[in-house]
Parts: sequence; structure tokens; C-alpha cells
Amino acid sequence: MMKSDITSALVEEHRLILTMIGLLEKNARLTLAGEFTDWQFYLDGVDFIRNYADRFHHAKEEDVLFAALIRNGMPKEHSPVAAMLMEHDQGRDFVRKMESAVLEARDGLSGRERTIAENALAYATLLRDHISKEDGILYPLAERVIPEDMRPEITEGYRQAQAGADAGFSERYRQLVETYEKG
Ligand SMILES: [Fe+2]
Ligand SMILES: [Fe+2]
Repeated sequence: MMKSDITSALVEEHRLILTMIGLLEKNARLTLAGEFTDWQFYLDGVDFIRNYADRFHHAKEEDVLFAALIRNGMPKEHSPVAAMLMEHDQGRDFVRKMESAVLEARDGLSGRERTIAENALAYATLLRDHISKEDGILYPLAERVIPEDMRPEITEGYRQAQAGADAGFSERYRQLVETYEKG
């Protein structure tokens, strides 16, 4: 019997996150070269990462899918799930540093470009690698090992995890990314 899918929505979210990561990489390189000072782009990037990548997407992983993998027998420590959780935290750290440097630059402090760009690029590199491990290894593993009888509660968990997001939430972030892509 075909099992009900528990990862394709997450793979789909990765694609929008990767598009934003591409924009961060492109603009961070320009900022390093002294050719890009649209600080609002970085603040919108921080907003996207915090609310879409973290609160919306990572919450489904941390609170639902990864929790289910642990309930299904994956160790909590020294395991693929533990590594993914550590990377989520590393990403949050890069974003905090990028944000504070951007706010300083926006307020007129000079010489913050390198810190902004380095943290943006470090986040981008971390998340690209992270997403490729989830798409290529962890999600396929979850699809293989999680039994059908656990899946309805996972689907329900996703629904609850995104209950705080109103109907237009994903669409707004999709449009934000598209606007900068056209920019
Ligand atoms: Fe993740
Ligand atoms: Fe993910």
C-alpha cells in the first residue's frame, strides 16, 4: 500500500527558502564589493528567515517530523536529527549577527558591510548544505521508516504548527521573494 506523504510540503518550502538564499548570496557579494546598500533587503531577508524558514518551516520539522523520528526510535543525541537541530541554531546565530550589523548600517554606522555579507554568506552556505541533507537523506529516511499509523498525527501536527499563520501567510512571503527576484 502507498503510504501517505509526510515530506513533500517541506520539500516545496525548501524551494522558496533556496530562492531567498540565492538572493542573499548575490546581494552579499555586491555588498562586499561596495555595490549594494539596500539595507531593507536584508531586513526583509531576516523577516523571511525568522517567520517563514524558522517559525513556519523549522517548527514543523522540530515539533512534528523530527519528534516523530525520535518517537519511532531515532536517538535524540548524536543522531541525524540532533545534527539538524544544531544547524537550525547555528543559522539563527548568523541571522542575529547579520541583523544587528544591518540595523547599525541603516542607522548610519560605516564599515558594517563585511559583517553583513559574511553572516549572510555563512547562513546561505549552512542552509544550502542543510537543505540538501534533508531533501537527500533525512526526508527519504522518514518516508521509509515512519509507519502509516503514525502519519495522520504528523499531518495534523503540521496543520497545528502552521495554525498561527493566516491564510495569506505563504503567499505574502512568496511575493516578497518574487519582488526581489525581479528587482
Ligand atoms: Fe531543517
Ligand atoms: Fe528544512
